[in-house]
Amino acid sequence: MKTRITELLGIEYPIVQGGMQNVGYAELAAAVSNAGALGIITGLTQPTPEDLEKEIKRCREMTDKPFGVNLTILPTIKPVPYEEYARVICESGIKIVETAGRNPEPFLPIFHEYGVKVVHKCTSVRHALKAEKVGVAAVSVDGFECAGHPGEDDIPNLVLLPAAAAQLKIPMLASGGIGTGAQMAACLALGADGINMGTRFMATKEAPIHEKIKQAIVDASELDTALVYRPLKNTARVYKNSVAQRVNEIEREQGKDMAFELIRDMVAGAKGKVSLSSGDIDHGIWTSGMVQGLIHAIPSCEELVREIMNDCERTIRDRLLGFIS
Ligand SMILES: Cc1cc2nc3c(=O)[nH]c(=O)nc-3n(C[C@H](O)[C@H](O)[C@H](O)COP(=O)(O)O)c2cc1C
Repeated sequence: MKTRITELLGIEYPIVQGGMQNVGYAELAAAVSNAGALGIITGLTQPTPEDLEKEIKRCREMTDKPFGVNLTILPTIKPVPYEEYARVICESGIKIVETAGRNPEPFLPIFHEYGVKVVHKCTSVRHALKAEKVGVAAVSVDGFECAGHPGEDDIPNLVLLPAAAAQLKIPMLASGGIGTGAQMAACLALGADGINMGTRFMATKEAPIHEKIKQAIVDASELDTALVYRPLKNTARVYKNSVAQRVNEIEREQGKDMAFELIRDMVAGAKGKVSLSSGDIDHGIWTSGMVQGLIHAIPSCEELVREIMNDCERTIRDRLLGFIS
């Protein structure tokens, strides 16, 4: 399939695996890229810029196809040397970066100097237009359905994608809630040039997380996510386990003035990481999206990409064309 995204990113299929903290290691990125889509290593999952450099090398040993790196720029308690991560990405010869979390403008000069194409992930039309204006190559528009941070506007993709497509000139990836080829066909119909998926790629053979987590995603329905941190205006969609439910209770009790200190220990990133690696579902907070209700198997990345592409083409050819022929 040829779209503006396959042309821009030099990939066979317009499918991207979004950055995933504690999941986006070289194994997954390489498997996705080997399947003809675009795999992405998550930069900040590596504790230091030097570790990221090694991870990029490791990925190159597993694939000769293009892959990218995600750089999530968020306010953190411990300062993160973002500039050093950006420099390592550039000097390692990476040509595609997914930015997220904040306006990527301060990082564009170095990325452009090294010929890196920036795909900025954002959750609103205004942020997508701003990213286009400052010079990113493409945007990934994350609807309210998405795992992770959907922003505070709560606009699902059925409205967000066509609203963004109507105003954007650069290529757009649809992101959030996508896991099937029929959904991909719908996104293309709504103006997207390709799709970005997170949760769907967690439930694959190559995802370097515990089998019990993958099975929990398969067993879960679309109802089994929770929105946490809403009172802090830093909403995140996560798997609805006992920790997320307890956080929601505290949030309800405390209201909009809730102090982060009350939940800090429960939601520590280190605990979520233990959940993913040990399979202990209720150890911490871990990210998963509504699309888990559409995930019924744990295929290899190659099987998944092939199935999505076949399903997408079948939907366009047999179902949609059937209505007008
Ligand atoms: C486990 C997990 C961790 C994630 N971590 C990040 C991250 O560190 N940075 C980022 O930009 N997006 C992150 N995301 C969001 C994904 O890149 C993607 O935008 C999102 O998963 C799309 O929604 P979907 O899961 O419904 O496909 C994460 C998603 C998951 C499932």
